[in-house]
Amino acid sequence: MEQEKDKMPAICGGKPVREGKQTLYYGRQCIEEDDIAAVVRTLRSPALTCGPEIEALEDHLKDVTGANYAICCSNGTAALHLACMAIGIGPGDEVIVSPITFAASANCVLYCGGTPVFADIREDTYNIDVESIKSRITPRTKAVVAVDFTGQAVELDEILALCREHGLYLIEDGAHSLGTKYKGRPVGSIADITTFSFHPVKTVTAGEGGACTTNDPELGQRLSLLRAHGITRDMTVMKHPTDDPWYNEQVMLGYNYRMTDFQASLLISQLKKLRRFSDARKAIRAKYDAAFEEIPQLILQKTIPESDTTQHLYILRLDPEKVRCTRREFFDALCAEGIHPQVHYLPVYLHSYYESLGHKKGECPVAEKVYENILSIPFYPALTEEDTDDVIRAVRKVAQFYAK
Ligand SMILES: Cc1ncc(COP(=O)(O)O)c(C=O)c1O
Repeated sequence: MEQEKDKMPAICGGKPVREGKQTLYYGRQCIEEDDIAAVVRTLRSPALTCGPEIEALEDHLKDVTGANYAICCSNGTAALHLACMAIGIGPGDEVIVSPITFAASANCVLYCGGTPVFADIREDTYNIDVESIKSRITPRTKAVVAVDFTGQAVELDEILALCREHGLYLIEDGAHSLGTKYKGRPVGSIADITTFSFHPVKTVTAGEGGACTTNDPELGQRLSLLRAHGITRDMTVMKHPTDDPWYNEQVMLGYNYRMTDFQASLLISQLKKLRRFSDARKAIRAKYDAAFEEIPQLILQKTIPESDTTQHLYILRLDPEKVRCTRREFFDALCAEGIHPQVHYLPVYLHSYYESLGHKKGECPVAEKVYENILSIPFYPALTEEDTDDVIRAVRKVAQFYAK
């Protein structure tokens, strides 16, 4: 695949920017020797699962997020499902969700029998719009799932105030935002529950992995039970307490959403680098911003001043008034230069499955308009200066070629 793309002739003429070099994709993990050593150590230990690395990881996550409780699990989708179960979402409940996100942010509501209701986004930051949330609240609304898109924190103060006014839970989908601070406070300690993903393209990775954080002891306990079948050894939780050493009791219906200990070891090792990775991401964002501000065909995502952001994705938006090409043509031309972008995201309700549930075009006009013209370009700490120079050169070349 990669070789074929490398051979594509430059659509914009001249030599492809990355000629003779590997294609750059929009995201990838950064695994170093000490990460590998950490995994190998655990693979040689007695416990591959349910062992000491899980508790150690949860302590690290509490440190990073400032939350009182951290519950790690098998992936970010499981974390969202756990969060919806913990707050008791069920049939008849509506949950207001951001549409510009990965489908899991809304699927978790469906898993619980609830109904996702999509609120529109802001045209400048692409995060969920507080006014649109307000307009979607009904007597059935039970919660809001707000996504820190690309890592920038949503307007937490305003959304939390709205949730408190209407008796709603706030689940913050922080899959993109581990390490981000909102008004000086780390994401993970502010919403009722914050969920994280540790998929390889995220800021730090466990291969697959996720977590929920909360300050609420009851939610913390429910999340922890639901993560492992609803089974406990805690006598204070049992209906039939006994100290028989073999006895454990299922007190609710839960799942096996556990993370393994070797994944936890990888993540602990990665978390030690969070600051370094975050600084590298911020530096690349600053370099890209400075270069792309000069290109009239592009609209840049607005920086949210309240958010000290560990950036996850870098989004370019084409200004349809100033380019004479489609997003697809721009995409293909970048691929031909050796820069392979991605698009984040199709508004969730436009997936055919959601259409089959009755959702239609027009529900969130701003999200649809933004979606038409966005691209995510290569953005991860392992990019070298030469790589980021190439990305900038390629984007500039394609933008000039297609300038109106
Ligand atoms: C915003 C958002 N939420 C949830 C998820 C789901 O996480 P995972 O892939 O770990 O299940 C993702 C992952 O891509 C995501 O980007």
